[in-house]
Amino acid sequence: MSPDRRGPLVVAHRGASAAKKEHTLAAYDLALREGADGVECDVRLTRDGHIVCVHDRRVDRTSNGTGIVSEMDFADLARLNYGDDDEPAELLTLHDLIALVLDWTSKPVKLFIETKHPVRYGSLIESTVLAELHKFGIGAPASADHSRAVIMSFAPSAVWRVRRSAPMLPTVLLGDSSHYLGGGAATTVGATAVGPSIRALREHPAIIDRAAASGRASYVWTVDEKEDVDLCRELGVGWIATNHPGRTRAWLESK
Ligand code: G3P
Ligand code: CA
Repeated sequence: MSPDRRGPLVVAHRGASAAKKEHTLAAYDLALREGADGVECDVRLTRDGHIVCVHDRRVDRTSNGTGIVSEMDFADLARLNYGDDDEPAELLTLHDLIALVLDWTSKPVKLFIETKHPVRYGSLIESTVLAELHKFGIGAPASADHSRAVIMSFAPSAVWRVRRSAPMLPTVLLGDSSHYLGGGAATTVGATAVGPSIRALREHPAIIDRAAASGRASYVWTVDEKEDVDLCRELGVGWIATNHPGRTRAWLESK
């Protein structure tokens, strides 16, 4: 997760989610075609233990159904439309997203997986994510390549559990408070990178240098404005998550 000399690498936040419905194959496919260096997704567990790419606790905002992901079975969730009438979209599983990313051979795109709700799921969500990655040869002790996936969470306990069970995988401790991230929480849990919001970074730009001084990379979200892209470049941020991967890459390449 080292910074590129041209500036930050670009992560498509929920796919190319400004142009396509978030967490759909269409959004990720567009992100890859727009040249994203990485893609971000949020994952939750269904009642019957499947891992799916849904941001909210409920499906109401992002589908034509209603209900709480963790209280619904996979089959119920899979019946819903996550696109719209013009461009219907199926429920996206983590399995299908990993396959899409690994099938993209133009360059080695990295998958940033954010685990949601560790209080509800406990360690089950991390172990399920790791099991899914292992199926693709990522993250297991014998794996040849640990560079294709990064696990992220706002919960220090979740990051700490991933560090313990898959120490070779990169991790990001996310946070929206400059005080919290500047205070060494990432070091405490062994995260390989800090993950401040752009708001926290504006308040406390020294987060990036502090992280670098302790050998940590940096991932900043959600960076959609040109002045914020420029700030991240000036500070030497490693990765920026944006809803506009194509436009952001064009900005970075125009200098
Ligand atoms: O990439 C981190 C960022 O996605 C965290 O916020 O709410 O969009 O998951 P949220
Ligand atoms: Ca997220």
